[in-house]
Amino acid sequence: MKVSASFLSSKNIPEDLTKLNDTDVDYIHVDIMDGKFVSNKTMPFQEMKHIYQYTSKRLDVHLMVENPSKYIPLYAELNTEFITFHIEVDEDIMKNIELIKKYSIKAGLAINPDTKIHSLIPYLPYIDQVLLMSVFPGEGGQEFIMETKERLEELKSLILSYHFPIVINVDGGVNQTTRVFCEKADIVTSGSYIVKSDNFQEKITSLR
Ligand code: DX5
Ligand code: ZN
Repeated sequence: MKVSASFLSSKNIPEDLTKLNDTDVDYIHVDIMDGKFVSNKTMPFQEMKHIYQYTSKRLDVHLMVENPSKYIPLYAELNTEFITFHIEVDEDIMKNIELIKKYSIKAGLAINPDTKIHSLIPYLPYIDQVLLMSVFPGEGGQEFIMETKERLEELKSLILSYHFPIVINVDGGVNQTTRVFCEKADIVTSGSYIVKSDNFQEKITSLR
């Protein structure tokens, strides 16, 4: 299992990113919130872009924003592996997928816990990742929603039946206890479980 570490709940981002850089974590999960798609707001890109100083890991960017088209060109500048935005946005989904691809970056769609899995079907031929939300987006440290287990099974069968080379990343409330419900995923994203501990590598290892 690959692990993507979210620093949303971090109290000291430079310090925690430096510590994560010394682990074998696969990606740094960058949570971006605009205060509109979700009520919380993260720092503007002009500040966020400085994370490159503290990490050499590839970035897994999660846009929890109403207008992904405004953010994609910015985050495409960084050392980015995936840019993922929400299927629930009103903007044109295909145009945003194409915009991400234009930068030769992998495109992801995130799906909230109350959005039907089959709504992903039209986009599956064009995306590289599904970010299956196991909490409602907006903040770190929430509890894993148990229905995610069945949703993950449904999503996995769908992807397998079409033979699409898409990775599934489960995001929210993932820790040593809930990891077992993510067996069918390729990546788990975990924030507070890692950054609120005093041994990042130990927690990352426990999720593999
Ligand atoms: C939720 C974010 C998640 C979150 C993960 O809005 O998208 O990435 O920060 O953090 P934990 O593991 O604390 O739920
Ligand atoms: Zn996230």
